[in-house]
Amino acid sequence: MQTKPLYLDNSYQKTCSAKILDVQSDGKNKVIILDQTIFYPEGGGQPSDQGVIKNSSGTLKVEQVLLKDQNIVHIGKLEGKLEPDQEVKCEIDWDRRYKNMQVHSAGHVIHEAVKYLLPDSFPVEAKHGKNAYLKYQGQIEKTLEHRILEKANAIIHAKLPIFTEFVSLEELKKRSPWVPPHLPTNKPLRIMWIANFPPIPDGGTQLKNTEEIPGISEVNISHEAEDTLVNYKINSSTNKEKPVFSYSIQTKFDHTVLQNLKNEALAMIMGASDAGELERLRIQYLGKSGQLAEVAKQLKNLDPAQKAEIGVLFNDVKTAITDALGPSLKIKNLTAGRHDLTPKILKPDPTLPGIPRPLGHLHPVTQAITEISDIFAKIGFTRVRYPEVEWDWYAFGALNFPEGHPARDDWETFFVDAPADPKLGKMLLTPHTSSGQIREMETTRTPPIRMVNIAKCYRRQSDVSHTVMFHQFEGLVIDKGINITNLRGTIEYFVKSFFGPDRTSRLRPYHFQFTEPSFEVDISCGICNGRGCKLCKEGWLELGGSGLVHPAVLTAGGIDPAVYSGFAFGWGVERCYMMKSGTKIDDMRLLYDNDIRFLNQF
Ligand code: DAH
Repeated sequence: MQTKPLYLDNSYQKTCSAKILDVQSDGKNKVIILDQTIFYPEGGGQPSDQGVIKNSSGTLKVEQVLLKDQNIVHIGKLEGKLEPDQEVKCEIDWDRRYKNMQVHSAGHVIHEAVKYLLPDSFPVEAKHGKNAYLKYQGQIEKTLEHRILEKANAIIHAKLPIFTEFVSLEELKKRSPWVPPHLPTNKPLRIMWIANFPPIPDGGTQLKNTEEIPGISEVNISHEAEDTLVNYKINSSTNKEKPVFSYSIQTKFDHTVLQNLKNEALAMIMGASDAGELERLRIQYLGKSGQLAEVAKQLKNLDPAQKAEIGVLFNDVKTAITDALGPSLKIKNLTAGRHDLTPKILKPDPTLPGIPRPLGHLHPVTQAITEISDIFAKIGFTRVRYPEVEWDWYAFGALNFPEGHPARDDWETFFVDAPADPKLGKMLLTPHTSSGQIREMETTRTPPIRMVNIAKCYRRQSDVSHTVMFHQFEGLVIDKGINITNLRGTIEYFVKSFFGPDRTSRLRPYHFQFTEPSFEVDISCGICNGRGCKLCKEGWLELGGSGLVHPAVLTAGGIDPAVYSGFAFGWGVERCYMMKSGTKIDDMRLLYDNDIRFLNQF
């Protein structure tokens, strides 16, 4: 490469001087190549820098910087003239660069947080621009979002130093347990690492300390085929003049020496991978001739006022490091390894807010069933349940269905591959809850009967308004003197309770095998209130069937039709629920797709 990339050594350099090597034209723009630059070219997921390149004869407003054919090219509009061999001054848009650096380093923090939770993970792609993310092969559970966010912010909070260096590939392999494939072998590699975490190759600009990241505000996990995207956002820092953290070696002895020592020690302890390493760190910092002992020696030379102030800080730092290290190896024989997930320096902080556990809720269909049974319980209906695997007799025969009725066809009803009963016929999956009518009559024997049977039903039909398995609720009332007005009143009561006081119902003559007379029940459309609209056409929506129980059915159930009469009705639970205003479900199958994003809304 002809251009020396100064940003790799010092990401905080805002200006530099350089010599122009080449000036080209690219349509409206000028393209300038320099002998050295502080401008970061787009790459590694980080957006390029902007700024100006100028001297007394001209100014290039740099809009984009790219790596092209081994050169760093600065592209932008030129005012005046710039020519090869001239000296120029470069100045980058520092606000933009600093923000990019924050997002970029934050990406590395996210990487460490993910690795902490899933030690074998490694990102295959990353973007650190407006839409910042890390991409992982394989599936990372969405439930980890909170923990990644929490861990990443803990790393930021711990004020860990970030280092960069040039090393050979062999050196990198020695220092890092995982090295990405296809790295160049013929030149030094730029690597970065946070505190004591293993280094990774990286060609971007980096902050000096994680504390410069204003905090991670959001972590979002989504899945793309086989891969997982971990998106993240950083807090927008309002303070642009935020002082740049300096990690330079101190020559003068003051409180920053102790502060830096504390940061470094805590970082090292956090990154330690086993108990032995923790013990080495204990000796290094707290040992007889350790770093704190060195500092203590210098304390003696301070004047009394300073000594008092720094002395307090000294004790704080010592306690922080001692606490972080935990009990000595002699007392506690830890066998922590890479997979040990116990945080090492982060002692539990009881002041941090907890992670709220997402609260689940009942499935919308279960909610509807509860509501329906509550509504009927109020007017004295008992909820009953009968077998979902039934005999033909209960589902059809006793309900007055003649032999060869189309409902008995294989294309309508699911028959069970089992021997038929000589009296009760074939075994089947209940196609409707009306089978519960005869069961209830058999169980109760003498009326009054007032039941609501809510159960699963099965039919061979699947489209926007049908699922193969669905629910029905069946009402049955039998007593002396039951007539249509009782039916009418019960239906109106249900419609007003379930759909709302401004909805009403009507009965339309129809035919069912097991009721005489039979009616279809309609409810007024919730959109146009019965006036007629695009959804309902005539102002009414069809709800289900009803009627007065057929004398043949009463007889089949062992009840004397000369003494007793009754009414019945039966409707789909899902259908009712979808017709409730505000649910806005336009495809019944959605209810059973088990997509949590859909179900969460109800
Ligand atoms: N069982 C009928 C169906 O599934 C609905 C029905 C109609 C139930 C009339 C009733 C009734 O109780 O009286 O289509």
